[in-house]
Amino acid sequence: MNEIEKRAFPLFNEAHSADIVNARIGSDVDPRARQIAETVVRHLHAAVKEIEPTHEEWLAAIRFLTETGHMCTDWRQEFILLSDVLGVSMLVDAINHRRPETATENTILGPFFVDGVPLSTSGTNICLDGKGEPLVVQAQVVDIDGVPVKGAIIDVWQTNDDGFYDVQQKGLQPDGNLRGKFESDAQGRYWFQTVKPRDYPIPADGPVGKLLAKLGRHPNRAAHIHFIIQAPGYETVITHIFSPDCPYLDEDTVFGVKESLIGQFEKLDDPLLAEPLGVTCPFWLTTPVFVLKPVGHGAGK
Ligand code: BEZ
Ligand code: FE
Repeated sequence: MNEIEKRAFPLFNEAHSADIVNARIGSDVDPRARQIAETVVRHLHAAVKEIEPTHEEWLAAIRFLTETGHMCTDWRQEFILLSDVLGVSMLVDAINHRRPETATENTILGPFFVDGVPLSTSGTNICLDGKGEPLVVQAQVVDIDGVPVKGAIIDVWQTNDDGFYDVQQKGLQPDGNLRGKFESDAQGRYWFQTVKPRDYPIPADGPVGKLLAKLGRHPNRAAHIHFIIQAPGYETVITHIFSPDCPYLDEDTVFGVKESLIGQFEKLDDPLLAEPLGVTCPFWLTTPVFVLKPVGHGAGK
């Protein structure tokens, strides 16, 4: 028996570093945990070998992650922001929500969803601060065969016209500003009044903002309204409608834009149309149709 064969585990060396680390994983380990750990170690070691960081660079990386952790609070999840700007949140979402082409696509949830918003009646104006251009959303929920889905629960939220969510400006904005929850009727329809969404920067005063600046990237999200659509028997859809005239559609900082989610917004200036909707002229109108996939239905057509 030579010196190497005598050892329980091989000693560290540069050439086989990842295999040497992975050899330490116990034999009685959950197979999924093993697969994840082995893969992460393999790719991490490959990245370090390609980059060949100096000690200072490696310490800067550790400091960046430490600052990212320190930035996190109940209302500020800097690690999620990091995952978002690196495109990982969208990738995980894509892997987990392969749907038939006709079904509404998911996009990023973001950190500003608030659970437990009370149900409003159709037609409610969710804009409580009076800022922005009026927008009427007349929506319908159907299944992939085009059959209306009654009793779907739809959460909506967006920033105000200054580009902030209510929870980012507690005390400045009315609580619940630009949030609503609606239920679809027998035709799958619901509608609400809001304001035209605008582009806004994601929180950029932390390490993720510094990273974006260092990489010559801006922090802006394309103008959107968030939707979560839930109905028994159907896969929940977490999505947006994007404003079609937003200059950031091609460069949303978190990669959330999908062609199918770019809405059609029509500017109307007809008092006969405005009056029954309770809005003033001019106003915007959009009429999205959300298409739900039954639970258990495959990704194909
Ligand atoms: C949002 O759309 O609310 C959002 C998404 C990702 C990061 C920050 C905000
Ligand atoms: Fe948003």
